[in-house]
Amino acid sequence: MEYIEALKWRYATKKFDPNKSVPNDTLKRILEAGSLTATSLGLQAIKIIRVESPEIRKALLPHCYNQHQIVDASDLLIICAHISVGEEHINEYIERIAKTRNQNISDLNGFKNMISNFVDGFDSLEPMQEWLARQTYITLGTLLTACALEQIDSCPMEGFKPKEISEVLDLESLGLYPTLLLPIGYRSEEDKNQHLIKVRKPITDFVSNI
Ligand SMILES: Cc1cc2nc3c(=O)[nH]c(=O)nc-3n(C[C@H](O)[C@H](O)[C@H](O)COP(=O)(O)O)c2cc1C
Repeated sequence: MEYIEALKWRYATKKFDPNKSVPNDTLKRILEAGSLTATSLGLQAIKIIRVESPEIRKALLPHCYNQHQIVDASDLLIICAHISVGEEHINEYIERIAKTRNQNISDLNGFKNMISNFVDGFDSLEPMQEWLARQTYITLGTLLTACALEQIDSCPMEGFKPKEISEVLDLESLGLYPTLLLPIGYRSEEDKNQHLIKVRKPITDFVSNI
């Protein structure tokens, strides 16, 4: 499918068909697309949790304003930001670059110091967490586009209580904070929203030339 057509085809799916599952290889490609997303400094301080257990999904429902997509969709992805980034994370990243590109760690000292200075530049945890959360929204964009190209339906969701979701999944102990939910699967024939005409500003209002 041509990509503009695919983006017109996708919509925030309100009702999924609970009887249809996304094939494993398709899900794998979508997740790989997510991992290929650009992130600030390349740090990838992100984790996607795939909730497989139907019981856990049900337990999350009251904390998502009962949005049934999270139980009916084939798969539920929880996009999480790291709660913070520190020395350990930066070292791990530098080691990964050195190994992947067959470089000496010492050759990366300048880059490492640049990252450390950037991270140390946050006055407190709050602006750092805002920066970390922004990275997850870029990942969401990539996942939505990948889903559309694969003809997999999805619903980006901010309508949930992060503290409660975090408690149910014990995310804090993993150093994670949930920023977005992404149920993916196949639209139900009963979902009336699939027939709605997409509402977007005219492109001339969306883009301005200076
Ligand atoms: C960050 C974000 C959060 C959203 N949260 C929800 C949500 O909690 N529940 C829902 O049904 N739709 C949610 N949406 C879907 C939007 O309402 C939808 O994308 C928008 O109305 C445009 O419609 P379309 O995606 O069908 O083209 C969210 C979208 C984004 C990007």
